[in-house]
Amino acid sequence: ASISVTTRDGAKLQIKASPAIPLMEFLRDGSAGVEGICGGELSCGTCHIYIDAGGESLPPRSEGEQAMLDAIADFVEVRPTSRLSCQVFVDESTPDMQVTVGPVA
Ligand code: FES
Repeated sequence: ASISVTTRDGAKLQIKASPAIPLMEFLRDGSAGVEGICGGELSCGTCHIYIDAGGESLPPRSEGEQAMLDAIADFVEVRPTSRLSCQVFVDESTPDMQVTVGPVA
């Protein structure tokens, strides 16, 4: 799937994600300003994104993802469309998505 990304400073970029690798890694390595400090261990919240379009096909948040989002919600705006990108996997069948890099605590 192709991912259209809006960074925190409003820049637009296009990320091509592939299966089995969390979206966080493409955002981190693709100059999107996502840090992913914990490497996907659900302990940092720095991979927070808003999925503005195309997120309907993703599985719902896991308990651990929800818990981390609840934790950062004291500091940043968590929306119904918020996800932790280290928990988001896309494959060929995933529709193209539009995401905005979220604020971090
Ligand atoms: Fe740390 Fe996602 S990379 S919670």
